Amino acid sequence: MAAVSAPAGLILAAGKGTRMKSDLPKCLHEVCGVPMAQMVIRSLRDAGVERIVVVVGHGGEEVRERLGDSVEYAVQEEQLGTGHAVMSAQDALKDHKGPLIVACGDTPLLRAETTKELLDLQAEKSAGATLSYCRLEDPTGYGRIMLGTSGQVLRIVEHKDCTPDELSTKEINPALYAFDTETLFRLLPTLKNTNEGGEYYLTDIIGTIREEGGSVIGQHAEDFAEFLGINNRWQLAEASEILRSRILMSHAMNGVTITDPKSTYIEGDVEIETDAIIHPMSVIEGKTKIGARAQIGPSTWIKDSVIGEGCRVFMSHVDQAEMGRESRCGPFANLRPKTRLNGKVKIGNFVEVKNAEIGDQTSVSHLTYIGDAMVGERTNIGAGTITCNYDGFAKHLTKIGSDAFIGSNSTLVAPVEVGDGAMTAAGSTVTKKVPGDSLAVGRGRQENKEGWVKSWRAKKSRESDH
Ligand code: UD1
Ligand code: CA
Repeated sequence: MAAVSAPAGLILAAGKGTRMKSDLPKCLHEVCGVPMAQMVIRSLRDAGVERIVVVVGHGGEEVRERLGDSVEYAVQEEQLGTGHAVMSAQDALKDHKGPLIVACGDTPLLRAETTKELLDLQAEKSAGATLSYCRLEDPTGYGRIMLGTSGQVLRIVEHKDCTPDELSTKEINPALYAFDTETLFRLLPTLKNTNEGGEYYLTDIIGTIREEGGSVIGQHAEDFAEFLGINNRWQLAEASEILRSRILMSHAMNGVTITDPKSTYIEGDVEIETDAIIHPMSVIEGKTKIGARAQIGPSTWIKDSVIGEGCRVFMSHVDQAEMGRESRCGPFANLRPKTRLNGKVKIGNFVEVKNAEIGDQTSVSHLTYIGDAMVGERTNIGAGTITCNYDGFAKHLTKIGSDAFIGSNSTLVAPVEVGDGAMTAAGSTVTKKVPGDSLAVGRGRQENKEGWVKSWRAKKSRESDH
Protein backbone atom coordinates (compact mmCIF):
# COMPACT_ATOMS: atom_id res chain seq x y z
CA MET A 1 0.00 0.00 0.00
CA ALA A 2 1.35 3.44 -0.92
CA ALA A 3 2.06 5.62 2.06
CA VAL A 4 -0.42 8.46 2.43
CA SER A 5 1.47 11.73 1.91
CA ALA A 6 1.44 14.21 4.75
CA PRO A 7 -1.20 16.92 4.55
CA ALA A 8 -0.38 20.61 4.19
CA GLY A 9 -2.47 23.57 5.27
CA LEU A 10 -3.37 26.78 3.51
CA ILE A 11 -4.72 29.66 5.54
CA LEU A 12 -6.41 32.49 3.66
CA ALA A 13 -5.64 35.71 5.46
CA ALA A 14 -5.13 38.38 2.85
CA GLY A 15 -8.43 40.17 3.40
CA LYS A 16 -8.40 43.67 4.80
CA GLY A 17 -11.31 43.16 7.12
CA THR A 18 -12.86 46.56 6.39
CA ARG A 19 -15.61 46.04 8.94
CA MET A 20 -13.09 45.71 11.76
CA LYS A 21 -12.45 49.46 11.27
CA SER A 22 -8.85 49.01 12.26
CA ASP A 23 -5.29 49.73 11.17
CA LEU A 24 -4.35 46.23 12.29
CA PRO A 25 -4.77 43.47 9.67
CA LYS A 26 -7.89 41.48 10.55
CA CYS A 27 -6.15 38.15 11.14
CA LEU A 28 -3.90 39.75 13.81
CA HIS A 29 -6.76 40.83 16.02
CA GLU A 30 -6.56 38.76 19.19
CA VAL A 31 -8.94 36.43 20.95
CA CYS A 32 -7.86 35.77 24.52
CA GLY A 33 -4.40 37.15 23.77
CA VAL A 34 -3.63 35.16 20.63
CA PRO A 35 -3.94 36.52 17.07
CA MET A 36 -6.78 34.84 15.16
CA ALA A 37 -4.48 33.52 12.43
CA GLN A 38 -2.20 32.06 15.11
CA MET A 39 -5.17 30.22 16.57
CA VAL A 40 -5.91 28.69 13.18
CA ILE A 41 -2.23 27.73 12.76
CA ARG A 42 -2.24 26.00 16.16
CA SER A 43 -5.47 24.22 15.39
CA LEU A 44 -4.05 22.82 12.12
CA ARG A 45 -0.79 21.86 13.85
CA ASP A 46 -2.75 20.02 16.54
CA ALA A 47 -4.53 18.14 13.76
CA GLY A 48 -1.15 16.93 12.51
CA VAL A 49 -0.63 19.44 9.69
CA GLU A 50 3.02 20.43 9.76
CA ARG A 51 3.54 22.41 6.62
CA ILE A 52 1.40 25.54 6.58
CA VAL A 53 1.26 28.35 4.02
CA VAL A 54 -0.46 31.60 4.96
CA VAL A 55 -1.76 33.83 2.17
CA VAL A 56 -1.11 37.45 3.12
CA GLY A 57 -2.02 40.70 1.44
CA HIS A 58 -3.12 43.65 3.53
CA GLY A 59 -0.45 44.40 6.12
CA GLY A 60 1.55 41.39 4.92
CA GLU A 61 4.79 42.48 6.59
CA GLU A 62 3.09 43.01 9.92
CA VAL A 63 1.42 39.61 9.66
CA ARG A 64 4.75 37.86 8.90
CA GLU A 65 6.45 39.62 11.76
CA ARG A 66 3.77 38.58 14.22
CA LEU A 67 3.21 35.02 13.05
CA GLY A 68 6.92 34.29 12.63
CA ASP A 69 8.76 31.82 10.44
CA SER A 70 7.22 28.55 11.60
CA VAL A 71 4.89 28.94 8.61
CA GLU A 72 5.48 29.83 4.95
CA TYR A 73 3.91 32.79 3.21
CA ALA A 74 2.36 33.48 -0.17
CA VAL A 75 1.43 36.99 -1.25
CA GLN A 76 -1.87 37.92 -2.84
CA GLU A 77 -1.30 41.46 -4.09
CA GLU A 78 -4.91 42.20 -4.89
CA GLN A 79 -7.83 40.56 -3.11
CA LEU A 80 -9.82 39.12 -5.98
CA GLY A 81 -11.57 36.40 -4.01
CA THR A 82 -10.90 33.19 -2.08
CA GLY A 83 -10.23 31.23 -5.30
CA HIS A 84 -7.68 33.83 -6.33
CA ALA A 85 -6.11 33.62 -2.86
CA VAL A 86 -5.52 29.89 -3.41
CA MET A 87 -4.03 30.63 -6.87
CA SER A 88 -1.54 32.94 -5.15
CA ALA A 89 -0.26 29.99 -3.12
CA GLN A 90 -0.09 27.54 -6.00
CA ASP A 91 3.56 28.20 -6.67
CA ALA A 92 4.53 27.77 -3.01
CA LEU A 93 2.72 24.43 -2.93
CA LYS A 94 3.64 23.11 -6.38
CA ASP A 95 5.65 20.19 -4.96
CA HIS A 96 3.03 19.22 -2.41
CA LYS A 97 1.59 15.74 -2.91
CA GLY A 98 -0.74 15.04 0.02
CA PRO A 99 -4.16 16.52 0.78
CA LEU A 100 -4.51 20.24 1.36
CA ILE A 101 -6.56 21.71 4.17
CA VAL A 102 -7.87 25.15 3.28
CA ALA A 103 -9.05 27.28 6.19
CA CYS A 104 -9.68 30.97 6.79
CA GLY A 105 -7.53 33.15 9.02
CA ASP A 106 -10.60 34.67 10.64
CA THR A 107 -12.09 31.53 12.24
CA PRO A 108 -10.15 31.39 15.52
CA LEU A 109 -12.33 28.81 17.26
CA LEU A 110 -11.66 25.99 14.82
CA ARG A 111 -11.12 22.71 16.67
CA ALA A 112 -8.25 20.44 15.71
CA GLU A 113 -10.55 17.38 15.90
CA THR A 114 -12.73 18.77 13.12
CA THR A 115 -9.77 19.17 10.77
CA LYS A 116 -8.53 15.73 11.74
CA GLU A 117 -11.93 14.21 10.90
CA LEU A 118 -11.94 15.88 7.49
CA LEU A 119 -8.45 14.58 6.75
CA ASP A 120 -9.37 11.05 7.79
CA LEU A 121 -12.53 11.10 5.69
CA GLN A 122 -10.67 12.54 2.71
CA ALA A 123 -8.02 9.79 2.94
CA GLU A 124 -10.62 7.06 3.38
CA LYS A 125 -12.82 8.08 0.43
CA SER A 126 -10.11 9.47 -1.90
CA ALA A 127 -12.57 12.23 -2.78
CA GLY A 128 -11.89 15.31 -4.86
CA ALA A 129 -12.70 17.28 -1.72
CA THR A 130 -14.18 16.84 1.73
CA LEU A 131 -15.77 19.74 3.54
CA SER A 132 -17.56 20.62 6.73
CA TYR A 133 -21.08 21.97 6.64
CA CYS A 134 -23.48 23.25 9.28
CA ARG A 135 -27.22 23.71 9.47
CA LEU A 136 -28.27 27.20 10.55
CA GLU A 137 -31.75 28.56 11.24
CA ASP A 138 -30.55 31.88 9.90
CA PRO A 139 -28.11 31.16 7.07
CA THR A 140 -27.97 34.79 5.90
CA GLY A 141 -24.67 35.78 4.32
CA TYR A 142 -23.16 32.30 4.04
CA GLY A 143 -22.53 30.23 0.97
CA ARG A 144 -25.22 27.54 0.74
CA ILE A 145 -24.36 23.87 0.39
CA MET A 146 -26.48 22.03 -2.15
CA LEU A 147 -26.69 18.38 -1.13
CA GLY A 148 -27.64 15.49 -3.42
CA THR A 149 -30.05 12.76 -2.33
CA SER A 150 -27.21 10.46 -1.27
CA GLY A 151 -25.74 13.21 0.90
CA GLN A 152 -23.04 14.12 -1.61
CA VAL A 153 -22.19 17.79 -1.98
CA LEU A 154 -23.29 19.01 -5.42
CA ARG A 155 -22.13 22.62 -5.33
CA ILE A 156 -21.88 25.73 -3.21
CA VAL A 157 -23.78 28.88 -4.08
CA GLU A 158 -22.76 32.17 -2.50
CA HIS A 159 -25.55 34.09 -0.76
CA LYS A 160 -25.40 36.91 -3.30
CA ASP A 161 -25.84 34.47 -6.18
CA CYS A 162 -28.68 32.37 -4.73
CA THR A 163 -32.06 32.04 -6.40
CA PRO A 164 -35.00 32.63 -3.97
CA ASP A 165 -35.33 28.86 -3.74
CA GLU A 166 -31.63 28.35 -2.94
CA LEU A 167 -31.76 31.12 -0.33
CA SER A 168 -34.00 28.95 1.87
CA THR A 169 -31.27 26.27 2.09
CA LYS A 170 -30.18 25.96 5.68
CA GLU A 171 -26.95 24.05 5.03
CA ILE A 172 -24.11 26.53 4.98
CA ASN A 173 -20.45 26.50 4.10
CA PRO A 174 -18.29 27.27 7.14
CA ALA A 175 -15.23 27.34 4.81
CA LEU A 176 -13.11 24.42 5.98
CA TYR A 177 -12.04 22.06 3.21
CA ALA A 178 -9.70 19.13 2.63
CA PHE A 179 -8.81 19.05 -1.06
CA ASP A 180 -7.05 16.54 -3.20
CA THR A 181 -4.26 18.97 -4.10
CA GLU A 182 -3.78 17.78 -7.68
CA THR A 183 -7.51 18.15 -8.41
CA LEU A 184 -7.66 21.57 -6.80
CA PHE A 185 -4.71 23.01 -8.68
CA ARG A 186 -5.81 21.46 -11.97
CA LEU A 187 -9.26 23.06 -11.70
CA LEU A 188 -8.24 26.47 -10.34
CA PRO A 189 -7.67 27.95 -13.83
CA THR A 190 -11.31 27.19 -14.68
CA LEU A 191 -12.58 29.69 -12.07
CA LYS A 192 -14.37 32.72 -13.46
CA ASN A 193 -15.35 35.94 -11.77
CA THR A 194 -18.63 36.37 -13.64
CA ASN A 195 -20.76 36.40 -10.48
CA GLU A 196 -22.51 38.95 -8.29
CA GLY A 197 -19.38 39.59 -6.24
CA GLY A 198 -17.09 39.87 -9.30
CA GLU A 199 -14.65 37.56 -7.46
CA TYR A 200 -12.94 34.25 -8.08
CA TYR A 201 -14.81 32.01 -5.66
CA LEU A 202 -12.96 28.99 -4.27
CA THR A 203 -16.40 27.50 -3.66
CA ASP A 204 -17.03 27.16 -7.42
CA ILE A 205 -14.41 24.39 -7.51
CA ILE A 206 -16.82 22.07 -5.72
CA GLY A 207 -19.37 22.10 -8.56
CA THR A 208 -16.55 21.65 -11.10
CA ILE A 209 -15.20 18.58 -9.30
CA ARG A 210 -18.68 17.07 -9.52
CA GLU A 211 -19.10 18.01 -13.17
CA GLU A 212 -15.95 16.13 -14.11
CA GLY A 213 -17.20 13.08 -12.23
CA GLY A 214 -15.32 13.47 -8.97
CA SER A 215 -16.87 13.15 -5.53
CA VAL A 216 -17.23 15.71 -2.76
CA ILE A 217 -17.98 14.51 0.75
CA GLY A 218 -19.82 16.68 3.26
CA GLN A 219 -19.16 16.24 6.96
CA HIS A 220 -21.95 17.62 9.11
CA ALA A 221 -20.61 19.67 12.03
CA GLU A 222 -22.93 20.03 15.02
CA ASP A 223 -21.34 23.03 16.65
CA PHE A 224 -21.35 26.07 14.45
CA ALA A 225 -19.56 28.10 17.12
CA GLU A 226 -16.19 26.72 16.09
CA PHE A 227 -16.57 28.20 12.61
CA LEU A 228 -17.54 31.65 13.78
CA GLY A 229 -15.99 33.91 11.14
CA ILE A 230 -14.92 37.24 12.53
CA ASN A 231 -15.85 40.25 10.44
CA ASN A 232 -16.33 42.95 13.08
CA ARG A 233 -15.36 43.75 16.68
CA TRP A 234 -18.59 42.47 18.14
CA GLN A 235 -18.03 39.05 16.57
CA LEU A 236 -14.48 39.25 17.92
CA ALA A 237 -15.91 39.83 21.39
CA GLU A 238 -18.32 36.91 20.97
CA ALA A 239 -15.50 34.61 19.87
CA SER A 240 -13.39 35.74 22.84
CA GLU A 241 -16.28 34.90 25.15
CA ILE A 242 -16.60 31.40 23.75
CA LEU A 243 -12.84 30.82 23.83
CA ARG A 244 -12.60 32.20 27.36
CA SER A 245 -15.06 29.66 28.59
CA ARG A 246 -13.21 26.86 26.73
CA ILE A 247 -9.94 27.93 28.40
CA LEU A 248 -11.51 28.10 31.86
CA MET A 249 -13.10 24.72 31.39
CA SER A 250 -9.84 23.11 30.36
CA HIS A 251 -8.08 24.49 33.47
CA ALA A 252 -10.96 23.28 35.63
CA MET A 253 -10.68 19.83 34.06
CA ASN A 254 -6.96 19.88 34.84
CA GLY A 255 -7.61 20.42 38.54
CA VAL A 256 -7.76 24.19 38.91
CA THR A 257 -10.59 25.75 40.92
CA ILE A 258 -12.22 28.70 39.15
CA THR A 259 -14.61 30.15 41.68
CA ASP A 260 -16.40 32.54 39.32
CA PRO A 261 -16.02 31.81 35.60
CA LYS A 262 -18.08 34.88 34.70
CA SER A 263 -15.51 37.30 36.05
CA THR A 264 -12.32 35.36 35.33
CA TYR A 265 -10.22 36.09 32.25
CA ILE A 266 -7.36 33.74 31.44
CA GLU A 267 -5.51 34.02 28.14
CA GLY A 268 -4.70 31.08 25.93
CA ASP A 269 -1.00 30.67 26.79
CA VAL A 270 -1.33 30.73 30.58
CA GLU A 271 -0.26 27.56 32.42
CA ILE A 272 -1.73 26.67 35.81
CA GLU A 273 -0.81 23.72 38.01
CA THR A 274 -3.24 21.63 40.02
CA ASP A 275 -5.06 22.81 43.12
CA ALA A 276 -4.46 26.44 42.31
CA ILE A 277 -7.54 28.55 43.10
CA ILE A 278 -8.49 31.48 40.92
CA HIS A 279 -10.81 33.85 42.76
CA PRO A 280 -13.27 36.27 41.12
CA MET A 281 -12.22 39.23 38.99
CA SER A 282 -8.83 37.85 38.08
CA VAL A 283 -7.21 38.61 34.74
CA ILE A 284 -4.23 36.41 33.87
CA GLU A 285 -2.46 37.21 30.62
CA GLY A 286 0.47 36.41 28.38
CA LYS A 287 2.96 33.67 29.17
CA THR A 288 2.11 33.47 32.84
CA LYS A 289 2.74 30.32 34.88
CA ILE A 290 0.92 29.69 38.13
CA GLY A 291 2.23 27.02 40.48
CA ALA A 292 0.34 24.34 42.37
CA ARG A 293 -1.84 25.47 45.30
CA ALA A 294 -1.32 29.14 44.50
CA GLN A 295 -4.27 31.41 45.15
CA ILE A 296 -4.91 34.29 42.81
CA GLY A 297 -7.36 37.14 43.38
CA PRO A 298 -9.90 38.40 43.94
CA SER A 299 -9.30 41.49 41.82
CA THR A 300 -5.87 40.71 40.48
CA TRP A 301 -4.14 41.34 37.16
CA ILE A 302 -1.13 39.23 36.24
CA LYS A 303 0.81 39.35 33.00
CA ASP A 304 3.86 37.42 31.73
CA SER A 305 4.82 36.36 35.25
CA VAL A 306 5.81 33.25 37.16
CA ILE A 307 3.92 32.66 40.38
CA GLY A 308 5.42 29.86 42.48
CA GLU A 309 3.75 27.05 44.38
CA GLY A 310 1.51 28.08 47.24
CA CYS A 311 1.84 31.81 46.54
CA ARG A 312 -0.98 34.15 47.40
CA VAL A 313 -1.67 37.18 45.20
CA PHE A 314 -4.49 39.28 46.48
CA MET A 315 -5.94 42.46 44.83
CA SER A 316 -2.66 43.18 43.11
CA HIS A 317 -0.96 43.94 39.83
CA VAL A 318 1.91 41.71 38.75
CA ASP A 319 3.70 42.38 35.46
CA GLN A 320 6.77 40.45 34.20
CA ALA A 321 7.65 39.47 37.74
CA GLU A 322 8.58 36.25 39.50
CA MET A 323 7.31 35.15 42.88
CA GLY A 324 9.07 32.26 44.61
CA ARG A 325 7.18 29.58 46.47
CA GLU A 326 4.82 30.61 49.25
CA SER A 327 5.40 34.29 48.74
CA ARG A 328 2.51 36.66 49.30
CA CYS A 329 1.57 39.94 47.78
CA GLY A 330 -1.24 42.39 48.31
CA PRO A 331 -3.66 43.85 48.78
CA PHE A 332 -2.81 46.71 46.42
CA ALA A 333 0.74 45.69 45.59
CA ASN A 334 2.38 46.55 42.28
CA LEU A 335 5.09 44.13 41.14
CA ARG A 336 6.66 45.65 38.04
CA PRO A 337 9.02 44.15 35.45
CA LYS A 338 12.14 42.33 36.68
CA THR A 339 10.90 41.87 40.19
CA ARG A 340 12.20 38.60 41.61
CA LEU A 341 10.93 37.44 44.96
CA ASN A 342 12.54 34.34 46.42
CA GLY A 343 10.58 32.04 48.76
CA LYS A 344 8.19 33.18 51.51
CA VAL A 345 8.63 36.85 50.73
CA LYS A 346 5.88 39.11 51.99
CA ILE A 347 4.86 42.16 49.97
CA GLY A 348 2.06 44.11 51.62
CA ASN A 349 -0.29 46.95 50.80
CA PHE A 350 0.73 49.90 48.65
CA VAL A 351 4.15 48.46 47.95
CA GLU A 352 5.72 48.92 44.53
CA VAL A 353 8.69 46.79 43.47
CA LYS A 354 10.62 47.16 40.22
CA ASN A 355 13.83 45.53 38.96
CA ALA A 356 14.65 44.15 42.35
CA GLU A 357 15.60 40.82 43.84
CA ILE A 358 14.28 40.10 47.32
CA GLY A 359 15.60 37.23 49.42
CA ASP A 360 13.79 34.47 51.31
CA GLN A 361 11.43 35.49 54.11
CA THR A 362 12.00 39.19 53.70
CA SER A 363 9.02 41.42 54.50
CA VAL A 364 8.08 44.63 52.78
CA SER A 365 4.73 45.12 54.36
CA HIS A 366 3.50 48.67 53.89
CA LEU A 367 3.68 51.78 51.69
CA THR A 368 7.10 51.25 50.16
CA TYR A 369 8.97 51.69 46.88
CA ILE A 370 11.78 49.25 46.13
CA GLY A 371 13.34 49.95 42.72
CA ASP A 372 16.69 48.78 41.31
CA ALA A 373 17.61 46.94 44.46
CA MET A 374 19.01 43.74 45.91
CA VAL A 375 17.65 42.76 49.28
CA GLY A 376 18.90 39.79 51.31
CA GLU A 377 17.07 37.23 53.41
CA ARG A 378 14.95 37.70 56.56
CA THR A 379 15.23 41.46 56.25
CA ASN A 380 12.45 43.72 57.44
CA ILE A 381 11.69 46.82 55.42
CA GLY A 382 9.65 49.25 57.52
CA ALA A 383 6.59 51.15 56.39
CA GLY A 384 7.21 54.09 54.10
CA THR A 385 10.70 53.08 52.97
CA ILE A 386 11.77 54.57 49.66
CA THR A 387 14.74 53.65 47.48
CA CYS A 388 15.66 56.90 45.73
CA ASN A 389 16.91 55.14 42.61
CA TYR A 390 16.75 57.96 40.09
CA ASP A 391 18.68 61.23 40.01
CA GLY A 392 16.98 62.57 36.90
CA PHE A 393 19.68 61.10 34.63
CA ALA A 394 20.39 57.51 35.64
CA LYS A 395 19.10 54.71 37.83
CA HIS A 396 21.25 53.55 40.75
CA LEU A 397 21.39 50.39 42.81
CA THR A 398 20.45 49.95 46.46
CA LYS A 399 21.89 46.92 48.22
CA ILE A 400 20.44 45.75 51.50
CA GLY A 401 21.93 42.71 53.20
CA SER A 402 20.34 39.84 55.08
CA ASP A 403 18.84 40.15 58.59
CA ALA A 404 18.80 43.92 58.19
CA PHE A 405 16.14 46.20 59.61
CA ILE A 406 15.16 49.30 57.68
CA GLY A 407 13.33 51.67 60.02
CA SER A 408 10.02 53.13 58.94
CA ASN A 409 10.16 56.08 56.61
CA SER A 410 13.79 55.54 55.67
CA THR A 411 14.96 57.19 52.47
CA LEU A 412 17.78 55.24 50.86
CA VAL A 413 19.59 57.46 48.36
CA ALA A 414 21.18 55.18 45.74
CA PRO A 415 23.81 54.14 45.02
CA VAL A 416 23.94 53.01 48.61
CA GLU A 417 24.47 49.88 50.64
CA VAL A 418 23.14 48.63 53.97
CA GLY A 419 25.15 45.71 55.34
CA ASP A 420 24.00 42.40 56.82
CA GLY A 421 22.36 42.78 60.21
CA ALA A 422 22.46 46.60 59.99
CA MET A 423 19.64 48.87 61.04
CA THR A 424 18.52 52.32 59.94
CA ALA A 425 16.71 54.52 62.41
CA ALA A 426 13.13 55.42 61.50
CA GLY A 427 12.95 58.57 59.39
CA SER A 428 16.59 58.40 58.29
CA THR A 429 17.91 59.67 55.01
CA VAL A 430 20.72 57.27 54.20
CA THR A 431 23.34 58.50 51.75
CA LYS A 432 26.43 56.61 52.92
CA LYS A 433 27.18 52.92 53.18
CA VAL A 434 25.97 51.39 56.46
CA PRO A 435 28.43 48.71 57.63
CA GLY A 436 27.08 45.34 58.79
CA ASP A 437 25.53 45.22 62.28
CA SER A 438 25.66 49.04 62.56
CA LEU A 439 22.90 51.53 63.26
CA ALA A 440 22.58 54.46 60.86
CA VAL A 441 20.86 57.53 62.20
CA GLY A 442 20.36 60.06 59.44
CA ARG A 443 17.94 62.57 60.92
CA GLY A 444 17.84 65.59 63.20
CA ARG A 445 18.21 64.78 66.90
CA GLN A 446 15.07 65.26 68.98
CA GLU A 447 15.11 68.12 71.46
CA ASN A 448 12.29 68.71 74.02
CA LYS A 449 11.63 72.28 75.16
CA GLU A 450 9.86 71.77 78.44
CA GLY A 451 6.83 74.01 79.08
CA TRP A 452 7.38 75.88 75.84
CA VAL A 453 3.88 75.27 74.46
CA LYS A 454 2.14 76.31 77.64
CA SER A 455 3.83 79.70 77.75
CA TRP A 456 3.35 80.20 74.00
CA ARG A 457 -0.40 79.57 74.32
CA ALA A 458 -0.65 81.96 77.24
CA LYS A 459 1.11 84.69 75.26
CA LYS A 460 -1.21 84.17 72.25
CA SER A 461 -4.39 84.39 74.34
CA ARG A 462 -3.20 87.61 76.05
CA GLU A 463 -2.62 89.14 72.60
CA SER A 464 -6.11 88.23 71.34
CA ASP A 465 -7.78 89.71 74.49
CA HIS A 466 -6.55 93.18 73.53
C1 UD1 B 1 -16.57 32.62 2.37
C2 UD1 B 1 -17.17 31.56 1.45
C3 UD1 B 1 -18.60 31.26 1.88
C4 UD1 B 1 -18.62 30.84 3.32
C5 UD1 B 1 -17.95 31.88 4.20
C6 UD1 B 1 -17.81 31.35 5.62
C7 UD1 B 1 -16.17 31.95 -0.73
C8 UD1 B 1 -16.38 32.49 -2.09
N1 UD1 B 1 -17.19 32.06 0.10
O1 UD1 B 1 -17.31 33.80 2.16
O2 UD1 B 1 -19.14 30.23 1.07
O3 UD1 B 1 -19.96 30.63 3.75
O4 UD1 B 1 -16.63 32.16 3.73
O5 UD1 B 1 -17.36 32.35 6.48
O6 UD1 B 1 -15.13 31.41 -0.46
N2 UD1 B 1 -9.49 36.10 1.57
C9 UD1 B 1 -8.26 36.25 0.96
N3 UD1 B 1 -8.21 36.83 -0.27
C10 UD1 B 1 -9.31 37.23 -0.93
C11 UD1 B 1 -10.56 37.08 -0.30
C12 UD1 B 1 -10.63 36.49 0.93
O7 UD1 B 1 -7.23 35.89 1.53
O8 UD1 B 1 -9.16 37.73 -2.06
C13 UD1 B 1 -9.55 35.49 2.90
C14 UD1 B 1 -10.07 36.46 3.94
O9 UD1 B 1 -8.98 37.15 4.57
C15 UD1 B 1 -10.78 35.54 4.91
C16 UD1 B 1 -11.22 34.36 4.05
O10 UD1 B 1 -10.45 34.42 2.86
O11 UD1 B 1 -9.93 35.08 5.91
C17 UD1 B 1 -12.70 34.40 3.72
O12 UD1 B 1 -12.97 35.55 2.96
P1 UD1 B 1 -14.32 36.36 3.11
O13 UD1 B 1 -14.29 37.53 2.21
O14 UD1 B 1 -14.60 36.61 4.54
O15 UD1 B 1 -15.34 35.29 2.52
P2 UD1 B 1 -16.90 35.25 2.76
O16 UD1 B 1 -17.55 36.26 1.91
O17 UD1 B 1 -17.19 35.30 4.20
CA1 CA C 1 -16.05 35.88 6.18
